[in-house]
Amino acid sequence: MIKIFKGNVIFTKTMQSFEEHKNSYIVTKNGVVEGIFEKCPEEYADAEIIDFGDSLIIPGFNDLHVHAPQWLNMGIGYSEELLPWLEKYTFPLESSFEDEDFARKYYRLFVDDMVKCGTTRACIFATRHLRATEILMELLEESGIGAFVGKVNMDRNSSDALQEDTQTSIDETLALVKQDKEKREKAALNGELPLVNYIITPRFVPSTTAELMTALGKIAAEYDVPIQSHLDENLDEVAWVKELHPECRSFTAVYDDFGLILPGKTIMAHCIHNTDEELKTLKEKDVFIAHCPQSNFNLSSGVMPLRKYLDMGMHVGIGSDVSGGHTLNMKEHIVEAIHASKCYHSVHRESAPLSTSEAFYLATKGSGSFFGKVGSFEEGYDFDALIIDDTNLLHEKQLDTLQERLEKFIFTGTVDNITNRYVKAKKVTCK
Ligand code: GUN
Ligand code: FE
Repeated sequence: MIKIFKGNVIFTKTMQSFEEHKNSYIVTKNGVVEGIFEKCPEEYADAEIIDFGDSLIIPGFNDLHVHAPQWLNMGIGYSEELLPWLEKYTFPLESSFEDEDFARKYYRLFVDDMVKCGTTRACIFATRHLRATEILMELLEESGIGAFVGKVNMDRNSSDALQEDTQTSIDETLALVKQDKEKREKAALNGELPLVNYIITPRFVPSTTAELMTALGKIAAEYDVPIQSHLDENLDEVAWVKELHPECRSFTAVYDDFGLILPGKTIMAHCIHNTDEELKTLKEKDVFIAHCPQSNFNLSSGVMPLRKYLDMGMHVGIGSDVSGGHTLNMKEHIVEAIHASKCYHSVHRESAPLSTSEAFYLATKGSGSFFGKVGSFEEGYDFDALIIDDTNLLHEKQLDTLQERLEKFIFTGTVDNITNRYVKAKKVTCK
């Protein structure tokens, strides 16, 4: 089916600059971009045109790392660093997701908030509870946005209420992986791909025994399922991993040795304190790095050397890491990424700060490329888009370029400026 969207189109094909198409037509076929035109081509004369007037049409935001259950804890406990914060705030909250009614109530609020903020795809940690994870996946499917979701695996060093036993963790993960495979096979019969998929989610090395990591690595390889976890976030955490695994050369090597780094299919959040040897592995294995600057500030984790990673040609995207981060609004995380890079630059003068186009790219095409052709309006990309009415931000001032209008929205706008959301050219309704 052909759908045409008209408005002021702006996106980042490359990190270096914005691509602007004033008053243009984006032609989509079956949810995928065919092209952008100044005049509507004759051949599409009969197609439906959705005209957004003077509004901006931008790619949807993609959150590469977020914890759904922690939505309730946003803003709380940032006087602590990672390990005590997990024990005091995170583990007690996540224990509550044993209760299905509780899970449904708060997962619904989480999904509604995410849609409202303009996130169109996300890589999500649930809790270790199987049923609550299924509920989260159902709610995401109903919402119309895309996601990878994982039941968290954690069989050591957790609270009594949250820790699982090794075999249950393996069995439940395998059950969810098989369920997901069936869903994909069923959708494939109709030539479709499900928008919500499973991702294997070991919490982090201190939470998972060698036996569990080995089993998860085998499941991931056998069923070709992606993996997400945390890496080199906090110095106490890094020292703890060294104590737990003196047999491995590094934190990264622990994941790698246990088969938990699948080339091109693995996300590691944070990556602040990596050694050069670790970076070499991450680069060789095409690991996606989820940069979570707001969380890194809140939990005093450090400042990631982003410029170095970009220069190395690493895959980098942006994550809210709620509730390490205190908002799901990716616009704010774009700003935090710019601020973090400027902080880093103030100490490392050779490391250039992030431009707006670079930061925007990271939250759209950078994170989006984990999902396929997502995060841009180039031909062949899924039409995931936000419509931005910025009338109230412009006042009397006539801004010269779409870039200036987009910058104004990112730094001074609110979610109320987002008037419509689309995933694969299908409208996503905001509650
Ligand atoms: N490392 C292990 N678990 C977590 C978590 O829930 N949040 C963050 N930021 N880091 C983690
Ligand atoms: Fe996290």
